[in-house]
Amino acid sequence: MNKRIRKAVLPVAGLGTRFLPATKAVPKEMLTIVDRPIIQYVVDEARAAGIEHIVFVTGRNKHVIEDHFDVAYELEDTLKARNKTAALELLEKHRPQPGSTSFTRQQAPLGLGHAIWCARDIIGEEPFAILLPDVIIKSQVSCLKQMVDLYERTGGNVIAVEEVPEDHTHQYGIVELAEELSANASRISSMVEKPAPGTAPSNLMITGRYILQPQIFDLLSAQDKGAGGEIQLTDSMLTLMKDQPFASLKFEGRSYDCGSKAGFLSANIAFGMDDPKLVEELVPFMRDMIESPLAAE
Ligand code: UTP
Repeated sequence: MNKRIRKAVLPVAGLGTRFLPATKAVPKEMLTIVDRPIIQYVVDEARAAGIEHIVFVTGRNKHVIEDHFDVAYELEDTLKARNKTAALELLEKHRPQPGSTSFTRQQAPLGLGHAIWCARDIIGEEPFAILLPDVIIKSQVSCLKQMVDLYERTGGNVIAVEEVPEDHTHQYGIVELAEELSANASRISSMVEKPAPGTAPSNLMITGRYILQPQIFDLLSAQDKGAGGEIQLTDSMLTLMKDQPFASLKFEGRSYDCGSKAGFLSANIAFGMDDPKLVEELVPFMRDMIESPLAAE
């Protein structure tokens, strides 16, 4: 039987330079999509997949993330005194259980692979999930839950993938596929970061959700630097692939890369459209903007 996926790592130690000056004092992960910080969507996805413990790999200036997932005593006391039950319930619903989160610091932003390695002691000897918190996924069923369901059948390592137009493949990590395992899943034979235009082995990009075996930590501990002088997760995954199976899952849903301005704004519109009241105001506004940008000013 495959070991259960109980823990997830959320690396939040990046600098978020693409959102400066917004991210000078506020972490990128705390920017808001409609009415929740980006990181809340990712934690909710993990909890919906049965994750029991979340490890945040943080850096300087990220303490507000820790506060966000804690009790806010003053606020909650005031809400109680004012009988604001709905607001209190909302806060409670989104708060992880006491003792189900850990925070560890990366100390220096040496790359995603290094950030994951910093979680090694807290994860220990069990398979675990990684969710890149600047990617949020809109789906019927939590994307990570879909991956866990596949993992329970296949074991090994699982990577979520999504189709991108052929002429965009050079912007992403792209997988090369071997045999099909089921309608949406295949064995991965290789992967490549940002392939030169026209050389991509498929049109399936790596989406920022992984289930990995703990042997990845031994490989990361070599601390070899890859592209951009950073310790890359992809390099260690490629080495692990020589010994262990990797499966890809074309999940049901759509990802939004909130680390980019276009992705962030698209996510606000996409998640905003879930609220019928917002739809009433947003749709006519967007129509005006498209038909006559000046009229909407
Ligand atoms: P990005 O490549 O998006 O980097 O990291 P970034 O620093 O967050 O953002 P930009 O490019 O400067 O705007 C992908 C993920 O890996 C984490 C980031 O927090 C993000 O979730 N990361 C990256 C770390 O935790 N540590 C690192 O050293 C690098």
